Amino acid sequence: MPGHPEASLRKPDAVTRLGGQTGVMEVEVRKLRQEEGEAFVRSVGVPFLSSATGDPDEVAENKDQVARIEVDRAWVASDDGRFVGNSCIYTMDLSLPASPDRECPVTGMAGVSAVGVHPTHRRKGLLSRMMAAMLDDARSRGEAVAGLIASESIIYGRFGFGHATDMAELTINSRESVFAVPAPHVDVQLLDRDEAAKVLPELYDRQRRTRAGEVSRNQEVWKEILADRPNRRHGGGGAFFAACDEGYVAYRAHDSNLLRGDLLSITVEELRGTTHEVEAALWRFVFDLDLVGQVTLKRRPVDEPIRWRLADPRQLRVADVEDRLYVRILDVPAALAARGYQSEGRLVFDLLPPSAVDGTPDPVCGRWVLEAGPTGASCRAAGAAEDADIRLVVTDLGSLYLGGFSASVLAAAGRIEELKPAGVAAADSLFSTRPAPLTGTGF
Ligand SMILES: CC(C)(COP(=O)(O)OP(=O)(O)OC[C@H]1O[C@@H](n2cnc3c(N)ncnc32)[C@H](O)[C@@H]1OP(=O)(O)O)[C@@H](O)C(=O)NCCC(=O)NCCS
Repeated sequence: MPGHPEASLRKPDAVTRLGGQTGVMEVEVRKLRQEEGEAFVRSVGVPFLSSATGDPDEVAENKDQVARIEVDRAWVASDDGRFVGNSCIYTMDLSLPASPDRECPVTGMAGVSAVGVHPTHRRKGLLSRMMAAMLDDARSRGEAVAGLIASESIIYGRFGFGHATDMAELTINSRESVFAVPAPHVDVQLLDRDEAAKVLPELYDRQRRTRAGEVSRNQEVWKEILADRPNRRHGGGGAFFAACDEGYVAYRAHDSNLLRGDLLSITVEELRGTTHEVEAALWRFVFDLDLVGQVTLKRRPVDEPIRWRLADPRQLRVADVEDRLYVRILDVPAALAARGYQSEGRLVFDLLPPSAVDGTPDPVCGRWVLEAGPTGASCRAAGAAEDADIRLVVTDLGSLYLGGFSASVLAAAGRIEELKPAGVAAADSLFSTRPAPLTGTGF
């Protein structure tokens, strides 16, 4: 069970300064200014070892990135006027576990992104200072949760972000994709980009309310997806978009020598139906494409139901499972009351701060009472006579929140302490959700 490690963050002011150990370096962490968008995007590339080439696609993409920045939610670390660190928040909402027979509710989420510190300035606390500023900003706007996709899983637990969703990549040879359980037929239409721009966003918004973990996409995100720039195609051709009334699929082909008898391979970038039946019908559409052998299914849920439709399920291989969304709970009562619950239950829990704390009390810490059921939930501070069932760090509450991981597994790993008999079982039954959460959209 993790304890309360020592404080390691300082409370940020509107402008904070770090006196360097040499006494020479002074780095300011501050908000981005309106005119600094391009410099911000250039700075974001440096920590990821992505150097500007001037390639027209890169220039166009950078322009899109500048347009996407919410200037009031972007921070830079500036050393004598030169950017040496960067981070930003995208304002979005997150689909939460649903109550039985309901669509997923949503809650506002601070989508933390573009985090980086230049190699010249690492391990001097700049990320810690930017993170403190971002979490303060999110709290001040009333966002109950923050979320991010991590480049390395070791970085963000200390700030209270818990690994909350996984994402799978699957492969199958379409010639081995006979269904044992037939899919319904749906009429599918191929769309050009302008048509896709009119149809896909609305379908996406309905579909993302069927699975927890999905995030909203604004116009800028759609513009980026539909632009389908060559540098985002991973060696494939341009994307095809096809839609039916209740879903759509985006796929691209990879070259091969057909005359030598090789078949094309297909990458399915995205496939979304508002029901499982529609998704199965769209899979059938893809698997029945002529000239195609290998199909790679990207960004799929770990409980992908298509496996159970196949006559020969072993043909569907799991190529990869990646950790995806990390969730930071910022407001415990609001976050827990916002999601749906499958069953009735009550849980009293002690919540501890993450290891990186800035010396001021984190409002999530304390003893909480969650009373929840299929018709609603409430969460409040516990009274003096209410003993806790379990004790955990806020990082691990982030892992439980979307139902992607169970309390019993976290307890088995020593991350949750059971204080009363059946405390962990109560947490298991309250937080579990179906279907498994997925975050199909990167940010
Ligand atoms: C990850 C990154 C932003 C960290 O920035 P930083 O300013 O060096 O981080 P800080 O100095 O605030 O570190 C805070 C703590 O996290 C630890 N830490 C930070 N990055 C770490 C990493 N990649 N691996 C292990 N520990 C790390 C630090 O050692 C420090 O620990 P301490 O408090 O016990 O001393 C920086 O290394 C970076 O830009 N990496 C490449 C790009 C990247 O991966 N960005 C994240 C995208 S999601």
